[in-house]
Amino acid sequence: MKTQAAASIFFLATSLPSALGWGTLGHQTVAYIATNFVSSATKTKFQSILGDTSANYLATVSTWADTYRYTDAGTWSAPLHFIDANDDPPSSCGVEYSRDCGSEGCVVSAIKNYTSRVQSSSLSDADVATAAKFLVHFIGDIHQPLHDEGLDLGGNEIDVTFDGESTNLHHIVSATSSLFPEKNQEPPSNPQKSWDTNIPEKYVGGYALSDAKSFAATLTTSIKTGSYESEKASWLDGIDLSDPVTSATSWASDANSYVCSTVMPNGISAVEKTDLSGAYYTKAIPIVELQIAKAGYRLAAWLDLIATGSTGL
Ligand SMILES: *[C@@H]1O[C@H](CO)[C@@H](O)[C@H](O)[C@H]1NC(C)=O
Ligand SMILES: [Zn+2]
Repeated sequence: MKTQAAASIFFLATSLPSALGWGTLGHQTVAYIATNFVSSATKTKFQSILGDTSANYLATVSTWADTYRYTDAGTWSAPLHFIDANDDPPSSCGVEYSRDCGSEGCVVSAIKNYTSRVQSSSLSDADVATAAKFLVHFIGDIHQPLHDEGLDLGGNEIDVTFDGESTNLHHIVSATSSLFPEKNQEPPSNPQKSWDTNIPEKYVGGYALSDAKSFAATLTTSIKTGSYESEKASWLDGIDLSDPVTSATSWASDANSYVCSTVMPNGISAVEKTDLSGAYYTKAIPIVELQIAKAGYRLAAWLDLIATGSTGL
C-alpha cells in the first residue's frame, strides 16, 4: 500500500502493525502536552466524556485508534489516519483537500466528523467517547509529515546504509522512528535491531507512560517559556471550530512541507544508497519535537474550543 510505504520512512517502528502513526510515545506525549494546556472546564468535560478522572485521561486513549484499525471491525477506519497529498516532493509540496481526500475519507474529514460527533447531544455516551478518542489520535497523526504525503517511496526497495551497514529505507526508519516505539515492542531479536530500543532510551529515557509525561513536560516548558514561546501564537493562526476542514488542512499542509524540507529535501535518489545515521537523523530530531509540540498545543486549543468556545491559550 503506497500510503504505508510512505508513512514508514520516518519515526515509525516498522515491524509492528500499529507502526503507521506516531508510536505510543509520540501520541501519549501529544496528549500530555494538551493536558498541560487545556482549561479546567475542558479537562472536566473530557474527563467526563472519557470516564476517567485521572491525569492520564487523554494519554491513555491516545493510541486506541491505531489498535482499532487492525481489528476486523476497524479496517474501514484505516484511511482516516492519513491524507495522501498528490504533490511532487521535493520540488513541490502541498495538500489540497478536494484533490487529496479520497472517497473513503481521510484524516481531515475524520477530524471534521469526530469534532461534530463529540459535540452531539443525540449520540450515545459511548459514541461520543469514541469520537473523543479518534480526535485525540488524529490530531496527533496529522502532524506527522508522512501522514500527509501520497508519494510511493517503497521503503523496502530503497537501499541505504546506516552506520555503514547495508539495509533499506524501511529499516533505517526504525532508527529515526525508534524515538516513538510501540509500548509493547518485541525485544530486539538481533544486534542490528538493538538500537531500536537503545536510541529512544537514550533520548527520552524509555517509553513508558511516565516517559511520555516527562517528554511532554520538557516540550511544555519550551512552549511556555522556551524556544517555541515566540512562535506558539502562530501555531493557532486560522484555527476555527466552525471550519474544521480549513483548520485541519492547514495543519496537514504545515506538516507536509517537511517532506520537502526534511524527509527528502533532495529527492529519493539522494536518500537511496546513502548513510542516514548522521546528518539526516540529526536534522530529523528537531522536526519531530516541533511537530509533537504543535500537535499537543493545537489539540489543547481544539478541545478548549469544543468545551468552552474559546482557546484560552
Ligand atoms: C463519522 O463517524 C462515524 C462513526 O465512526 C462513521 O460511521 C461515519 O461513517 C463517519 N462519517 C463520515 C462522513 O466520515
Ligand atoms: Zn494513526
